[in-house]
Amino acid sequence: MGKEFPEGFLWGTAISSFQVEMGRGEPSDKTDWWAWVHDKGNIEEGIVSGDNPLEGPGFWELYGEDFKLLKEGLCNNSIRVSVDWGRFFPEPIDDIPVHVKLDDEGHVCDVEITEEILQQMDKRANQNAVKRYRKIFTEAKQQDITLMLTLFHWPIPLWLHDPIKCKTDMENATKRGWLDNKTVIEFTKFSAYIAYKYGDVVDLYCTINEPRIISEHGYLSTWSEFPPGKNDPDLYLLVMRNLAIAHGLCYEHVKKWDKTSFSKLGPCTVGLVPVLQVFAPHDPNDPRDVEASKLIDYAFNEWGLNAVFHGDYDMNLDYLIEPDEQKPYRVRGCDYLGINYYSRWKIKYVDKGMKPLANFKLMPCEGDCTDYGWEIYPDGLREVLNFAYKRYRRPLYITENGIADEKGDTRTRYLLAHMEALHKTIHLDKVPVLGYYHWTLMDNFEWSDGFKIHFGLYRVDKTSKKRSPTSTVAIYKKISENNALP
Ligand code: BGC
Repeated sequence: MGKEFPEGFLWGTAISSFQVEMGRGEPSDKTDWWAWVHDKGNIEEGIVSGDNPLEGPGFWELYGEDFKLLKEGLCNNSIRVSVDWGRFFPEPIDDIPVHVKLDDEGHVCDVEITEEILQQMDKRANQNAVKRYRKIFTEAKQQDITLMLTLFHWPIPLWLHDPIKCKTDMENATKRGWLDNKTVIEFTKFSAYIAYKYGDVVDLYCTINEPRIISEHGYLSTWSEFPPGKNDPDLYLLVMRNLAIAHGLCYEHVKKWDKTSFSKLGPCTVGLVPVLQVFAPHDPNDPRDVEASKLIDYAFNEWGLNAVFHGDYDMNLDYLIEPDEQKPYRVRGCDYLGINYYSRWKIKYVDKGMKPLANFKLMPCEGDCTDYGWEIYPDGLREVLNFAYKRYRRPLYITENGIADEKGDTRTRYLLAHMEALHKTIHLDKVPVLGYYHWTLMDNFEWSDGFKIHFGLYRVDKTSKKRSPTSTVAIYKKISENNALP
């Protein structure tokens, strides 16, 4: 087996708007995430770090230099970026009417969008953001960088989600984010708008980044560090359902409104980005741990993909799809899967007196762990890629894979071990993986943990914004340049 990767393989890094853009230029201060990380109560409770995204790496202005790092420093040919919904529409646009069809359970089934609506949206969009994103994407094109664009990498405009009200008084909250049809409808409008505006410069689209993390960390988490900080298995499933519906509608409308983009998978390529993790019982001899781990694997890894690909919505999590859980009309498509893979987790059954889905604990990592306490488990990459391809039969990209490593002494080992696993997956298992995006280009705002977590291939000086390479840069460059393992 040679050490090469397939011809035309995409090598890149992934970044997301909220995590890197601020630090230079206009802030994005009209989203739920902005409100969440600035909330005094959250800071006092230690749910968020208190760090300010305004001290971020400043990609909003420094994108040109960052693309240079990508091209020259890393020899990459692609980048995965996202758009910040709240920058485009900081104020409500729900008065721009669309015709919506609901299914018999009252969930969004179809949204009708016309060119006239998109033009109305354009008039109301924040033109600074519209122009700046065009500059960013055009710059990528000029530097011959294949552009993968994520439409939703987490922040929601505040007019659709008030996370503090939801946290403290959900019953009376009126802006409930992904719990509401309204968010699904508005996200569909937003997706159509982005495809309409930027189809000529986008190569690949990702609809939603990690639906499961949005639902789990926001709605099923005892530590509840994501907005809106709930711990309720029912809400977890409702959000998973709406995200699967939203993916379908987004897919359909991006396909409709992007008339020009092209990738090697064909015209206008649109996929979903799940995070897949390996879950294993803490004690393989304890049937309760075995059962809990099976349920978590099913609920976290499979459930959302079964919904998107088959229209199976197992709302009672009994592993069976009863007739009223079959929703084939919600299946709209998914051209590829973007897999985010980081780690393996051991699951311990803990009776919390809650529904089965909540009766578990993720055990702290033992042995080979990252700064974040995540286990380094490269074979898991091969496991999840095989699972995803064999079950859902779509081409794959690795859309995120990386390590929190402040000292920078483990990242290279992590990268190389995952590269080996990837190479075997492609060559021995014949799984069509078409690209790899390392998480991430430079140190950034790691959500609730702020700046204390370091995933970047480049360090960033908070004041001067100067980027300095970690030792992994040279190795990743070599792999990318040679399209082969060293
Ligand atoms: C997310 C990133 C995040 C990374 C590391 C992924 O779940 O997509 O936004 O920074 O993991 O935690």
